[in-house]
This record gives sequence, structure tokens and C-alpha cells, in this order.
Amino acid sequence: MTPAAPRGLWITFEGGDGSGKTTQAERLRDELEARGRRVVRTREPGGTEVGATLRELVLHHRGDLGPRAEALLFAADRAHHVASTVRPALERGDVVIQDRYLDSSVAYQGAARALGASEVRDLSLWAVEGALPDLTVLLDLDPAEARRRLDADDKPFDRLETERAEFHERVRRAYLDLSQAEPDRFLVIDATLPPDEIAARILAEVRRRMPSLG
Ligand code: TYD
Repeated sequence: MTPAAPRGLWITFEGGDGSGKTTQAERLRDELEARGRRVVRTREPGGTEVGATLRELVLHHRGDLGPRAEALLFAADRAHHVASTVRPALERGDVVIQDRYLDSSVAYQGAARALGASEVRDLSLWAVEGALPDLTVLLDLDPAEARRRLDADDKPFDRLETERAEFHERVRRAYLDLSQAEPDRFLVIDATLPPDEIAARILAEVRRRMPSLG
């Protein structure tokens, strides 16, 4: 009998803009690499060459772009990213650490843009042939605090970031609903905790799911 194909671990980071996902994703990458794991660091939108073009379009296009077109662009980026980057990495046995995945579409397009959570989730699942991460870290943050962080950052806002406070409230609520619907996949962390504490909680959860990590 041939042994089962090696399969890596797929970890996604979710949360509102300014919740600290990228910082924590990078810290986790460093921790895993220090323990000898091969890590692929990636993101949506924009984790591939095609994705970079889609990202530019969906985040910085200046004219009108309807919510359905927006949802389809995110789904197109996702389809290509999973097929060309994520699946091959997992098949090689690598760990994939990714900023944002379909939960972002459910929260932003499904709930905040009111296209419907289940419709948007089904669209993404079709795009990726049902692929779901092993672990999704949700960094939960009050949108008012997130806005203070983004303002302090002094970077230009993208199309989604400039949405009103109520939009970001809906995003937050949707994420919390998603985490309650799939408690085994989600690890929810209060993003106002000290960064070291957040990193330690994430690493403990990854260890639990990957006992060989040491
Ligand atoms: P990005 O610069 O990656 O933001 P962040 O650093 O906060 O992750 O921009 C991604 C933006 O796109 C963010 O506002 C969320 C939004 N987005 C969606 O609306 N739907 C999606 O499916 C994805 C992946 C992102």
C-alpha cells in the first residue's frame, strides 16, 4: 500500500483592516521556519501574478464597480491562487500562511455589501473546488480602534477601507458569526492583547494541530 500523500498545514488570517493580521502572520512564519518547516507566505487578493492585476482593479479602481463584479473579482483571484499556489504547496507538505481567504468575501461582500453570506460562500467554494483551511485565526477588533490604527499608519486607504463605520461593524459581526458556525476551524483572538501574547496563543494552537512541530 502506498502511504498517503504528505499534506502540509493551511493557516489563514482574518479580521478587519488594521487588526494586525500581517504582523502576526509574519511572526508565525518566522517561528515555523526556525523549527525547520517550509512555509509559503501568501495573501488574497494578489497572491499570484494574475492576482496582482486583479488586486489593483478591485482595490484601487476609481470608477463604478458594482458589488457583484467586486465579489466575482475576489473569487477569480481566489480560484487562480488556490489552484496555482496553495494546493501545490500543501501537496509538497509545506505550511501555507495566508492573509485573508473566503471568510473575507463572506464578511465584506456577503454581509457588509449585503449580497448574502451563503451565496458568496458558495461562489467562493465553487471557485476553489471546496478547499477550506485547517485553521483560521480571526483577530477580532472594534472598528473604531482599527480606524485609529489605520489613521496612525499614514498609508493611502483602499476602496474597502474608506467605507463608513457601519460597514466595518457588519464585517466584524459577520466574522464572529462565521467563527461560531465553525468553531473547530476558527481561533478567535482579541486583537487588543499584547502582540507577544497573540503570537503565543497562535503558536500553541498550531502546535496542537501539528504535534510534530516540537
Ligand atoms: P489589504 O490591503 O490586503 O488589506 P489588509 O491589510 O487589511 O488585509 O486589502 C484587502 C482589502 O480587500 C480589505 O479591505 C478586505 C477586502 N477584501 C474583500 O472585500 N473581499 C475579499 O474576498 C478579500 C480577500 C479582501
